[in-house]
Amino acid sequence: MNQTITNRNVRQQRKDQHLEIALSQSDSAANLFKGIRFYPEAIPELSQREIDLSTKFCGMKFRAPILINALTGGTRRGLAVNARLAEVAKRTGLPLAVGSQKVALDCPEVAPTFTIVRHVFPDGVIFANLSAASSVEDARRAVAMLRAQGLQLHLNAAQELAMAEGDRSFIWRDCIAAIAQNISVPVIAKEVGCGMTGSTAKQVHKLGVAAVDVGGFGGTNFVAIEHFRRNFTKSSLIDWGLPTPLSLLDVLGSNTNIDVCASGGIRSGLDIAKALALGAKMCGIAQPLLREVTFGGVQAGVDYIHHCLAELKTVMILTGARDISSLQQKPLIFDSEIWAYLQQRQLTKAWIRK
Ligand SMILES: Cc1cc2nc3c(=O)[nH]c(=O)nc-3n(C[C@H](O)[C@H](O)[C@H](O)COP(=O)(O)O)c2cc1C
Repeated sequence: MNQTITNRNVRQQRKDQHLEIALSQSDSAANLFKGIRFYPEAIPELSQREIDLSTKFCGMKFRAPILINALTGGTRRGLAVNARLAEVAKRTGLPLAVGSQKVALDCPEVAPTFTIVRHVFPDGVIFANLSAASSVEDARRAVAMLRAQGLQLHLNAAQELAMAEGDRSFIWRDCIAAIAQNISVPVIAKEVGCGMTGSTAKQVHKLGVAAVDVGGFGGTNFVAIEHFRRNFTKSSLIDWGLPTPLSLLDVLGSNTNIDVCASGGIRSGLDIAKALALGAKMCGIAQPLLREVTFGGVQAGVDYIHHCLAELKTVMILTGARDISSLQQKPLIFDSEIWAYLQQRQLTKAWIRK
């Protein structure tokens, strides 16, 4: 019993530290989306009201392609953040994911710090969240706790290895397969800031996973967050990971017929437009929404999303794309760094659109 309380306290302290440090850190890399450009359509033949931002992801239809991505839960501070994020989701009609629910499975008294999102947004689409190392039973409990419509399984090996108290064994495939094949909602395999390749996406697709969230390098940096917690001043590993645009090109150029969510450093409507043009069906944003609701409250979070969506619409008009599937047909210009990556990965053919 005492051990349970100690573990809970350590975990809770860590979760609040994550919130605090994430708010003080800058993004992990320069925005590589800058290396992708659209061809402008000087005669768009479109009016703004014709633009359709709706998308399908994990078999569900959404009015716009933004997911409020997994952030927190488990503490009093996490409860306040989740309440605000859920209010943002409700006012914008967007889906929302919670942070890892493991703490609430082990200590049910903290479940309200997660279930608040369902309370605030009873009809919303909510994604549950657990580690890829979880059991089917825990996955079922996490989904039931929120009456969630989907489950994110986070893949965070680099973060665990950077943590003094983190896991050191990552035998995940059988757990992912068992969960994907035995729960009633779609499962999303999600990196948390180091990205993934097409080969990982293919593997998890074969295991029964419905979607991947590439969680690429470029935004929140968990290796840096964990090193900060340990007072490490020098580490070459804070640069570990595949930048989000490269991760998207890798996954979406690999002939994997799986839904893809882009996340990791998505910061603007222009980033969203580029991620969608590459073939993503959804775009996850985490740290900027944490920042907005923490410093500006719910309205600031809503304004941030409206700003991103307005920018996305603008780009769609300027490329002559009425809807997202039309945006996905538009040819793109890649800079030399991205082109070199595609050559190295033998993906150039997949990415030349006439
Ligand atoms: C404070 C904080 C806590 C997070 N906790 C979780 C988590 O519990 N589970 C998870 O899958 N991802 C978690 N994430 C990762 C985000 O969902 C997202 O994948 C990552 O931050 C990259 O997106 P961003 O650059 O927009 O922040 C967390 C992110 C932050 C900033």
